[in-house]
Amino acid sequence: MKKFALIGQPLSHSLSPSIHRAAYHHMQLLGRYELLETAAEQVEDVIELVRTGEIDGLNVTIPHKVAVMPFLDAIDEDAIAIGAVNTIKKVGNQVIGYNTDAEGFKESLLERLHINTVREQRVLVIGAGGAARAIVHTLGKDGAVLTIVNRTMSKAEDLAAMYPFDVTVLTIEAAEAMLNQFDIVINTTSVGMSSFTNASPIKLNQLASSTLVCDLIYNPLETTLLKEAKSRGNATLNGVGMLVNQAALAIEIWTGQKPNRKLMEVTLVSEVR
Ligand code: ATR
Repeated sequence: MKKFALIGQPLSHSLSPSIHRAAYHHMQLLGRYELLETAAEQVEDVIELVRTGEIDGLNVTIPHKVAVMPFLDAIDEDAIAIGAVNTIKKVGNQVIGYNTDAEGFKESLLERLHINTVREQRVLVIGAGGAARAIVHTLGKDGAVLTIVNRTMSKAEDLAAMYPFDVTVLTIEAAEAMLNQFDIVINTTSVGMSSFTNASPIKLNQLASSTLVCDLIYNPLETTLLKEAKSRGNATLNGVGMLVNQAALAIEIWTGQKPNRKLMEVTLVSEVR
């Protein structure tokens, strides 16, 4: 029996066990996926369980995605650039950290647009926190043309300065006025999560009809931003695909096998509804 776990705090609302268990069942993988509610001072001890082989793989969520990094023997180069780890595995005698979040989002984006690359896509990223950092890295290294806006503009400027490629920073008002210049708009902020329900992070008046509007939020399945985009006739993408794909990519790292993503998605959506 393989043992996998999610560490974070709080975890009681996590949907990861459902989607992992559905995947393992379909793959006929004898594995358990447990929630390990972990305080900051316990992080090192839990990683030790991977080193001793008691745990075969870890997922990491808020607030430990950065805190786990010093305790790992090696970190994948994308996870280093993103500055956060969400998947851990022992390879040989090394405990290694990976990040599958942004790659998971990129795969759902490519699938939604029926394209093979984001190269030359003009992307507006709303937000300048951890999620934005990951998305900008992953889309930028593949040649997307990126612009960031954020409530606190200085944070967007600091973020843009971190990359080896050009990233434009605009005020939210300036981006709103030239919204028709973007092929893809992505909300990475928490604006639109259940507690803010009616808020939208950007006004869509100038949106072109061909622009895909994305939100990393998966609960609710449709944020105010996505509702407004849809009512204008635009295509939309929520965070379900990202959550499913990051889990699927973690399973691939741990087992070398590809799980059934459609089944995982159906499981997730039924839990959110
Ligand atoms: P995450 O890791 O999910 O990206 P984070 O690093 O805390 O979380 O970043 C949160 C992002 O959401 C930031 O861009 C934040 O804007 P500020 O930098 O101005 O704080 C944004 N955000 C959170 N609440 C917001 C709100 N009510 N209105 C606008 N932006 C908000």
